[in-house]
Amino acid sequence: MELEMDKLVSLCKRRGFIFPSSEVYGGINGFWDYGPLGVELKRNIKDAWWRDNVQMRDDMVGLDCSIIMNPRVWEASGHVGGFSDPMVDCRATKERYRADQMYVFAYVFPATNAKGEPTEAWLASLGGSPEEAAGPAEKRAAKLAKKFGKPADEPVITPYLEIADDDRIKVIGPSTDEAGTLTEPRSFNLMFKTFVGALESDSNVAYLRPETAQGIFANFKNVVDTARVKLPFGIAQVGKSFRNEINPRNFTFRSREFEQMEIEFFCRPEEAKDWYKYWRDARFAWYTGLGLKSEKLRLRDHDAEELAFYSTATADIEYAFPFGVSELEGIAHRGDYDLTQHMKFSGKDLSYFDEEKKERFTPHVIEPSAGADRATLAFLCEAYAEDEVAGETRTVLKFHPRIAPVKAAVFPLVKRDGMPEKAEALYRELKRSHNVSYDEKGAIGRRYRRQDEAGTPFCITIDSQTATDDTVTFRDRDSCRQWRVPAAGAAQAIRDLLDGTPVPGAE
Ligand code: GAP
Repeated sequence: MELEMDKLVSLCKRRGFIFPSSEVYGGINGFWDYGPLGVELKRNIKDAWWRDNVQMRDDMVGLDCSIIMNPRVWEASGHVGGFSDPMVDCRATKERYRADQMYVFAYVFPATNAKGEPTEAWLASLGGSPEEAAGPAEKRAAKLAKKFGKPADEPVITPYLEIADDDRIKVIGPSTDEAGTLTEPRSFNLMFKTFVGALESDSNVAYLRPETAQGIFANFKNVVDTARVKLPFGIAQVGKSFRNEINPRNFTFRSREFEQMEIEFFCRPEEAKDWYKYWRDARFAWYTGLGLKSEKLRLRDHDAEELAFYSTATADIEYAFPFGVSELEGIAHRGDYDLTQHMKFSGKDLSYFDEEKKERFTPHVIEPSAGADRATLAFLCEAYAEDEVAGETRTVLKFHPRIAPVKAAVFPLVKRDGMPEKAEALYRELKRSHNVSYDEKGAIGRRYRRQDEAGTPFCITIDSQTATDDTVTFRDRDSCRQWRVPAAGAAQAIRDLLDGTPVPGAE
């Protein structure tokens, strides 16, 4: 089944996963609120990340830095000078596009015709990936070639920025048919500016952090001096970041306020290549382990031209969202660039002394940098399914139990014969260790459907047989299989099912 984004967005709204921010006032572009189910889902993803990458390891410590830092941090990091995206505007449609995300499908004509006179070159262009560009753009390019009576050479697909200043080529914006409506690429700084203190003067300017990473570098010495860490080790942080994205889009994928889950892993320079490979594979495995198992998840190594000047290797973990293949996380080998920059700008020594080897040097860094909102969106896309149950179509979110917002729902089959009392007692018991819900409203089939849409992996029903043999009915969300479990063992069964321990009757 091909997921349509509209269906997911409307389910998220209807079931309280994600709402547009300040919707009662008409919303605000690029900002989103997580509702009661969404906050549990995103929290479970962040908790799983923290547990697996920080608490379960011996070589990682955590940090929680302030969002506003000394603005010199952003001069050192290069964000004040260079943190901007080249954008192009379409004069006809008033749409704005990121130039580096536009690909053009081009018929390039020779500069001169047979008589040696200049000929024109015509292009069609489309936003999005090269794969997307090929279809509709090809047709439009062919139409244009016909319109202008030009023979076309072999078509090429090429990034817009690479051809933008070739005056033989006319680019047509994604939503128009006329050439020449696009402006030259222009840069916009993406940092949100504010003022600290009473005066709104240049000397009081500060920035909302555009990434959590720099807080880690700025605290490198504090951690080394206080946490008794030895290379190789990492510092991890989860928190809000802010970017004044010119073109927020694709639901939460490109937001102006979002959360990052970042690691800076410090090591000896000669070990950095191996650690880069390790993190590249470990981070990919983390997503598959939590259920992003389909071929939609990919690991893509950057070409030499794509690398930042200080990086010797970078890979992106990408997911094929309904709107195209896009980045979930980047893993970058950053060398000693960041610590060196902060030493230069702060004047402080941020080198490391290896006690055993009696050597002082600047550590190299591997940076796995993930987005909590993008991960949440990918898990939602992957989990969304429509299937047939008892002759009816149901919508179900097949989350891995570890990230499911609600782990189990407890129902009395009917509201009499002592069933609600028993169900409520079991609900209270389970609630001590898990996020569970209680529902006694409506027919049992409707209650199952409600939980399926919320992604609850298990439902437990107290029915008439409970009164005779003290067992309850368990039901599995994905297979809809049902089996009986002694009421006294229900809490243990839930713990086992969530841990992946085999449970009699469940398989
Ligand atoms: N410290 C490196 C860094 O920030 P990045 O590729 O700009 O690298 C890392 O961002 C991750 O943060 C991305 O892979 C993505 O998951 C998330 N992210 C970045 N910009 C975002 C945005 N506007 N909305 C949602 N998530 C975003």
